[in-house]
Formats: sequence, structure tokens, C-alpha cells
Amino acid sequence: MAFEDALHTLTLSEDGSYTAYSKEYNEHYHSTKDGALKESLQKHVIPAFELIEKDEVNILDICYGLGFNTLATILYYRQNRPETKLNIYSPELDASLIKSLEYFTYPEEFLELQEIIVALSCEGVYKDEQLFIELFLGDAREYIQRFENFFDIVYQDAFSPSTNPILWTKEYFADIAKAMKKEGVLTTYSIAFKTRLALYENGFYIYLNKGEGYRDATLASQKQLLNAIVVDMEHKISCNPDIKSIRD
Ligand SMILES: C[S@@+](CC[C@H](N)C(=O)[O-])C[C@H]1O[C@@H](n2cnc3c(N)ncnc32)[C@H](O)[C@@H]1O
Repeated sequence: MAFEDALHTLTLSEDGSYTAYSKEYNEHYHSTKDGALKESLQKHVIPAFELIEKDEVNILDICYGLGFNTLATILYYRQNRPETKLNIYSPELDASLIKSLEYFTYPEEFLELQEIIVALSCEGVYKDEQLFIELFLGDAREYIQRFENFFDIVYQDAFSPSTNPILWTKEYFADIAKAMKKEGVLTTYSIAFKTRLALYENGFYIYLNKGEGYRDATLASQKQLLNAIVVDMEHKISCNPDIKSIRD
């Protein structure tokens, strides 16, 4: 069986890792310029890892897609903080995509994760002493309502706000805020003012994730973060009074 089908094609991204293109959403799963693996590490895994230091970490990966955020997280913790227990929860609407991931051309860094990749693709769950991973085959909006004050980290990595607005609304982020611990952090590639506003309206402080070799991204937390680049939301709101957050 091959990965490609009527709805998905493979694309080589700039860092040498493959991503996919969705014909259904007319969008790539990752920034082809930043690269799939690089985007995952720089915009999600590393900034969250640096802010959250705990023996056990609960992560919400919205949404599983090709699984880069989950897989890069496992690898990064193994390399840098192997004693941490990771619990990763990830909803995904596209069950046939998950089934095909056993055959996806992942970067060679993920070779050591083959057993996990196959288990998630075939069973939707993986468990060992260090790891618990659960895929939920269904709607993320429904899934997140099961959790309260639970997540230390949320990777907000849905298709873009214009393509998949239901996962970027003020009401959606209200559910995310409730599902997260107050000291938790949310990472997203989106720097859209509407995204930041929807988070801000739910009590998040907004920060810029800026670094060499990748496009700017956003960090958010319901607790103030030290040593992070603050986005002055009140100033931005006064400059853009007509822009509203996306609503359900
Ligand atoms: C940009 S991709 C995620 C990329 C992924 N984080 C990765 O690293 O490969 C967005 C994913 O959201 C899924 N999706 C769209 N709407 C959804 C929903 N309401 N609930 C769950 N998954 C959804 C799509 O099927 C797609 O796989």
C-alpha cells in the first residue's frame, strides 16, 4: 500500500523532509518553506519543551495529521530529557489518513520510532513505561470537552484559520483554555491577529516565537511568561479596531 491517494500527495519540503498536500483543504500539512520537521521542532516542540519542565507532561496535539508534532516530541524528549513521562492526546478526523501513515516517507530521524508509528497507524494507541499516546478518530471540538485543567502543552496546528475556521474561534479557544492548566503553554504557527485576539479574549498572554531559519510563530499562556517576547495586544487592538476574532 502507498501513502498517496485521491486526497493526499507527497511534497518534499525545504529541510529535506516530506510533508503532504491535502486536495480536500487545498493546503499543505506543513510550511514547505520552513520544512515539515523543522517547523514541528521550532514552532512547537522546542519552545514548549523549554517552558515546561516536569516529571510528567500532558500534551494535546491538535490535530495528528501526519504525526510530526507527536513524533518529534518523543524524539526530542528522548534526546534531551529521557526520564520525562509523556502523555500525548491527539484528535484526527481523517481515519483513512491515519491508516496510511504506516507507509508515509518519514525523515530518517524517525526510524527509531517505527514501532510507535505502526502501532498508532493500526491501533490508534501506544503505551510503554515512558509514553502514553492516544489518537481520537473524530472531531477535535468534541474531544477537547472531555478535559479540564489537564494539559501542560497544546500544539495548535490545525489547517489555517481561513481553511478550517472551526478550530480557531473564540469559543474553541475557550474550551482549550479550560482543558489546559493555568501554567500551560500553547504553540501555534499562526501569527494572524484574529488568532491572537481569540486567545487574548480567553485570558491568554500572547508572545512572539521568533528565531533564525523559520518564520515567526506564536506562543500563548494563561500565566505570564518570563523571558518571552510580549505582543502588546492592547496596542494592536487600538490600531485594528475593526478586526474581530473568528466566532462559531
Ligand atoms: C495541518 S494538519 C496537522 C498537521 C500535523 N500536526 C502534523 O504534524 O502532521 C491538520 C489536520 O487536522 C485534521 N482536522 C481537520 N478538522 C478537524 C477536526 N474538526 N477534528 C479533528 N481533526 C481535524 C485534518 O484532517 C488534518 O489532518
